[in-house]
Amino acid sequence: MVSYKELGLVNTRDMFAKAIKGGYAIPAFNFNNMEQLQAIISAAVETKSPVILQVSSGARKYANQTLLRYMAQGAVEYAKELGCPNPQIALHLDHGDSLELCKSCIEMGFSSVMIDGSHLPYDENVALTRSVVEYAHQFDVTVEGELGVLAGIEDDVVAEHHTYTEPEEVVDFVSKTGVDSLAISIGTSHGANKFTPEQCHRDANGILVPPPLRFDILAEIEKQIPGFPIVLHGSSSVPQDEVATINKFGGALKDAVGIPEEQLRQASKSAVCKINIDSDGRLAMTAAVRKVFAENPAEFDPRKYLGPARESLKKLYEHKIINVLGSNDRL
Ligand code: G3H
Ligand code: 13P
Ligand code: ZN
Repeated sequence: MVSYKELGLVNTRDMFAKAIKGGYAIPAFNFNNMEQLQAIISAAVETKSPVILQVSSGARKYANQTLLRYMAQGAVEYAKELGCPNPQIALHLDHGDSLELCKSCIEMGFSSVMIDGSHLPYDENVALTRSVVEYAHQFDVTVEGELGVLAGIEDDVVAEHHTYTEPEEVVDFVSKTGVDSLAISIGTSHGANKFTPEQCHRDANGILVPPPLRFDILAEIEKQIPGFPIVLHGSSSVPQDEVATINKFGGALKDAVGIPEEQLRQASKSAVCKINIDSDGRLAMTAAVRKVFAENPAEFDPRKYLGPARESLKKLYEHKIINVLGSNDRL
């Protein structure tokens, strides 16, 4: 058993309390390789932001659990080397689907886990989430639960339709499970095609405009559990310049559309204190790599295409931290 505390990581409790009080949200960026991790840490250090390193079960299989543990420990040391004496970094399991997986992550140094029982009948979601909380809290590991279903792809689970979180259920869920934070469904969705064109309208420039987030449901939830940490999944904004670059250099992304950044900025000022972003990073990396190959077809040194991808990612993360989540200058 490796405690996250030995690795220099923190759980999310203090981060969330400060974020709610300060009216900002903590970035939760997914990673599964070194360049993504370097970009996340250097962006967080440069902007003086706390950060959540998020690992899905797919990412864990891809990267290897032992390597991930040392990468997270290395991330703390790297942040210090970059000039941050007291980095606030959490290592979080994204969309955990079983008690066994959560236990295994906790034993390998995770400081926070999500148990996603949102696809289960309510009572089963409560029982599964409760079992994870009971285990995790023995080690001071924080737990995120989820109520309501997001459309899109969540690891191996694909949901075609979303179900908004029922505000009437949140008090019961939070008190019965003992979770530390709650992911809700108010209209965000996973992936780079969050809405079909039929669900959107087009603005004067022909750009797809998605339906707005349900801030009324968020307000109702906040009324039920005042000051309780809320999490938004599926919060990529799908930057249209990255999509255009990908398509210009041989990609085929059609009707990709995300959540407008102004709406995420608005949500960050509420009890939403963790915002999950993965797809935007994938787009930024892919655009940069495609550009290098299109302009230099003879290139075959991975540093020559992963380097620009890392630089583009870092810029994206700094932008999110400063202009969307407002978590800069908090260390
Ligand atoms: O919510 C899903 C995240 O974007 C992780 O995606 O399961 O493909 O690693 P993944
Ligand atoms: P995006 O697909 O919108 O980046 O969402 C990521 C996410 O919710 C990870 O849990
Ligand atoms: Zn998610």
